[in-house]
Amino acid sequence: MPQQQQHQAAGLLLLLFLLWNLFPEGEYQNQSLALSELASKRLERYQDALEVLNQTRWGDFRSRPDAAAGDDDEGPYGFVNLTGFREQDGFAWEDLELFREKGLRLSRHAMPPVGGKQLWDTAQGEPVWANASGTLHGDWVRRPGSVPRTYDSYNLSRSVPGMDWVGDRADWARNITGESGRMMLRLEGNRTVQKYDEVAEGSIPLSGGSVRHVRGYATIEDTRGSGLNWEMRLWGLQWPRQGVVLMTTTSEKFEGIFGLPHLAPSADFFQSAQMMLMRKLGRVVRRKRRNLYVDQNMPWNSDVDNALYTAFPSPHCEFVLYGQVHPPLQQDAGVDAEHAEDVIRAIESELQKPLGAPIHSVSKLQMSTVIYSPDCGFFLESKGPPDFPPADSDHLVGMKTEVHTHQVKTWMLVYALVVFAQVGLLKDQMQESFTPSTMGRVSFWTISAMVIVDGMTFTAAATWVSSAMATFLPTLALMFASFLSMTIGGSFLAKIHEVQLPERNRRRDQQRQTPSSGASTGTTSSATSAPLTPNPTGALLPAPVTAPRSSRLPPDQGPVIVPSDQDISAEIAAAASAVPRPNMVGNTTATTTTPAPPSSAPHRPPQTFQAIIGRFILFSLFVSFLAISSVTWYSRPRALLLNACAFAYLSLWLPQICRNTLRNCRRALSWRFVLGQSALRLLPLAYFWVKHDNFLYARTDRRSFALLCAWVWLQICLLAAQDVLGPRFALPAGWAPDAWDYHPVLREDNVEAGGLPIGLVADDTAAATAPTTSTTATTHATTNARSPTAEKRGSVSGTAGGTRAIDCAICREVLEVPVLGAGEEEGRVANVFARRLYMVTPCRHIFHTACLEGWMRFRLQCPICREELPPI
Ligand SMILES: *[C@@H]1O[C@H](CO)[C@@H](O)[C@H](O)[C@H]1NC(C)=O
Ligand SMILES: *[C@@H]1O[C@H](CO)[C@@H](O)[C@H](O)[C@H]1NC(C)=O
Ligand SMILES: *[C@@H]1O[C@H](CO)[C@@H](O)[C@H](O)[C@H]1NC(C)=O
Ligand SMILES: *[C@@H]1O[C@H](CO)[C@@H](O)[C@H](O)[C@H]1NC(C)=O
Ligand SMILES: *[C@@H]1O[C@H](CO)[C@@H](O)[C@H](O)[C@H]1NC(C)=O
Ligand SMILES: *[C@@H]1O[C@H](CO)[C@@H](O)[C@H](O)[C@H]1NC(C)=O
Ligand SMILES: *[C@@H]1O[C@H](CO)[C@@H](O)[C@H](O)[C@H]1NC(C)=O
Ligand SMILES: [Zn+2]
Ligand SMILES: [Zn+2]
Repeated sequence: MPQQQQHQAAGLLLLLFLLWNLFPEGEYQNQSLALSELASKRLERYQDALEVLNQTRWGDFRSRPDAAAGDDDEGPYGFVNLTGFREQDGFAWEDLELFREKGLRLSRHAMPPVGGKQLWDTAQGEPVWANASGTLHGDWVRRPGSVPRTYDSYNLSRSVPGMDWVGDRADWARNITGESGRMMLRLEGNRTVQKYDEVAEGSIPLSGGSVRHVRGYATIEDTRGSGLNWEMRLWGLQWPRQGVVLMTTTSEKFEGIFGLPHLAPSADFFQSAQMMLMRKLGRVVRRKRRNLYVDQNMPWNSDVDNALYTAFPSPHCEFVLYGQVHPPLQQDAGVDAEHAEDVIRAIESELQKPLGAPIHSVSKLQMSTVIYSPDCGFFLESKGPPDFPPADSDHLVGMKTEVHTHQVKTWMLVYALVVFAQVGLLKDQMQESFTPSTMGRVSFWTISAMVIVDGMTFTAAATWVSSAMATFLPTLALMFASFLSMTIGGSFLAKIHEVQLPERNRRRDQQRQTPSSGASTGTTSSATSAPLTPNPTGALLPAPVTAPRSSRLPPDQGPVIVPSDQDISAEIAAAASAVPRPNMVGNTTATTTTPAPPSSAPHRPPQTFQAIIGRFILFSLFVSFLAISSVTWYSRPRALLLNACAFAYLSLWLPQICRNTLRNCRRALSWRFVLGQSALRLLPLAYFWVKHDNFLYARTDRRSFALLCAWVWLQICLLAAQDVLGPRFALPAGWAPDAWDYHPVLREDNVEAGGLPIGLVADDTAAATAPTTSTTATTHATTNARSPTAEKRGSVSGTAGGTRAIDCAICREVLEVPVLGAGEEEGRVANVFARRLYMVTPCRHIFHTACLEGWMRFRLQCPICREELPPI
């Protein structure tokens, strides 16, 4: 039994987990011991590097003769004793000067000269955002360095001894090979700004007198080259007055953060950087040494995947990033320099500590950047002017952190409102379909799709809420809304499941039976002469489905019975070749072979609602894991996966269309619900698929979204067509299993066959007294409809047919039914109305329509024999 297997599997997993926790403990401790040893060695190395940083001066590190220092007499080249900056490491430092030039060019372009004077050089350029914390994205282009480098250019075991390098004889990680691509950069600046005195020794450019630490997180998409997204962490400094950001990666083979000042544009930058880094790095190294056994994360580590110290590093290309923040007010000309400064500071302080000052729109954060890889020998430049027209691409553009947070909060609240609106719609729909018969029409899977997605939203919000600092309240609102939606939808689902359970069981039983009785299915399909075929087909009727407003059905559509979940064409072929058994239809004994009610079925117990919910949870976990792991995939398959998920989710009306067809039901859900849910469920997708500056910086895909919309629209159109044209408007007759016709034409010639409802069969006396009864019965027959009865009485010919009377078991009043004589033509308009007055159940009991419909609001059982009734 599957459940038992699940339990066994769970037990096995638990056991494995325990074993895994118990056994390798000794080794684990040993490993952590080894780690701390490794850590202490590296920290010692960093202490040495700090010493080197303290003792080196501007100009000690020179990559070219006559480099920045200018008047040097110590020789053409200079190296410092830091890993990666030594001569023996063989990095492509030849391009360092080029890197500086590229950076300065970007800076001077961002702040154009005023009156022929380059104000940026003297730190008097236009003011920029002092706080560059934010997220930016844009395009990059790759430029090769002047000296090509491959992994063969390096002998890592020589330059960094004591490490077991993994994969250093193959293409290194972060080796960007594509010509262009996209990048994302997240900057986090420290709150405190360090002021210092500028050293204006005539050296330009000046650094502006203040500096702060920044941390960056960069994602470089190399779709055209390696096809991968490379992520890295960078550490460095920002000079807020000048808007310059200088950051670098650090790893076992490159002590970038210690050499950072040597990469700066000028002596002034060098000194402020050295001063700043000496304090900060010394403090970090001391703290790390104190917490050697507790904190085993490598400081300034650039590798996102592996934060720990390791003896088995794998080589990555190293990066140095120079960024220039653009002046935000450049476009709004007319604001003079001092005034602009005040405006920017006012906006920044308002953003940081909102006091309610009026700021209408905060300009974007914009930055141009050049990234230099000293070991892999290439440059990545942000795409934009002066090399590219601004219309093409304008460097990196993004939002300041506060604006970003504000956006996230706003959109989360909007999403919460959307979910609340969904709850409202769901509630209305539940009020509308609260009876078994109306619930029977609603597709279980349509509601399931909604509940699953709401559940996933809830899980995501509940996971996020613990770490959502600024977005706490909107997340809470979203969590609450999705919780409501999930639970209310779940309870609706539970009720639907309960109502539809008998039907499922029956279908399953029939599937089990059809192989043996399949040959006889076809014979009934030709039995159009017997529109009332309740008893024998009971065995074959797959899901006794219903024709709720069957007066709108073509009246001559005979019952064509095809088992629902089978291969239909094979079924038809089998039926065609089967030997027809003429009297099968009228075989009264067939009633005895009708499937037993589900309660007495000795088969596998029905699938409980809990089991289904358990599967839903497993399924959504699986989808979530897939989605999370897709972050590291190539962008093409990831987009494919996300689009496929969205497509599957937005196919939610499809099960309802199928169910309408199967059960011959025109409309199960109100139009308000269908249209409202479609729109509300498309909205969050629209945000990510269409809005290009969405807060996740997800790449937009308008074409896919248009297709998704079209798909939803098509489904709605199908639902509408089913409502208007009938649920089976496009299906050839016989492709869908027959619905139970509660209002059949009653025929005299079925009397012997037992085709007429019980009580009308072979009841000569009743037939004889019918005319008299009918005259007296007109009074209570009017409860249903007066005129059709009168009309019918006029139309009934006095031959074999006529009106018969029977007591309705529900209201105990007389029920008159017109019965057609043998060979008599049906199809008079009056009959169609007359037939709406009575209802015949599959168990051949007959009632007033009003009586049975009222009964079926509460129970889907025959009031007389307690047989299951197909819902209306
Ligand atoms: C584990 O500890 C033993 C001695 O306690 C030592 O010889 C061995 O090298 C350690 N293993 C590792 C991986 O450090
Ligand atoms: C840096 O070097 C100077 C001497 O050049 C010394 O006085 C100072 O203590 C050193 N600072 C650190 C943090 O080692
Ligand atoms: C470089 O530093 C290391 C210690 O980190 C030291 O052993 C080595 O002698 C130094 N080399 C030079 C040339 O100073
Ligand atoms: C980077 O990729 C290029 C092109 O595939 C290759 O020639 C080069 O050796 C790689 N560099 C490293 C350091 O792996
Ligand atoms: C790398 O250097 C080590 C030590 O100097 C040497 O043994 C090894 O042969 C070198 N490897 C290559 C590929 O040159
Ligand atoms: C910011 O810098 C100050 C001093 O420079 C330091 O004490 C603080 O820990 C830093 N904050 C962060 C988040 O790095
Ligand atoms: C910069 O912005 C970040 C993010 O809002 C904030 O935490 C930090 O305090 C700000 N720093 C300054 C100096 O404004
Ligand atoms: Zn009645
Ligand atoms: Zn009955």
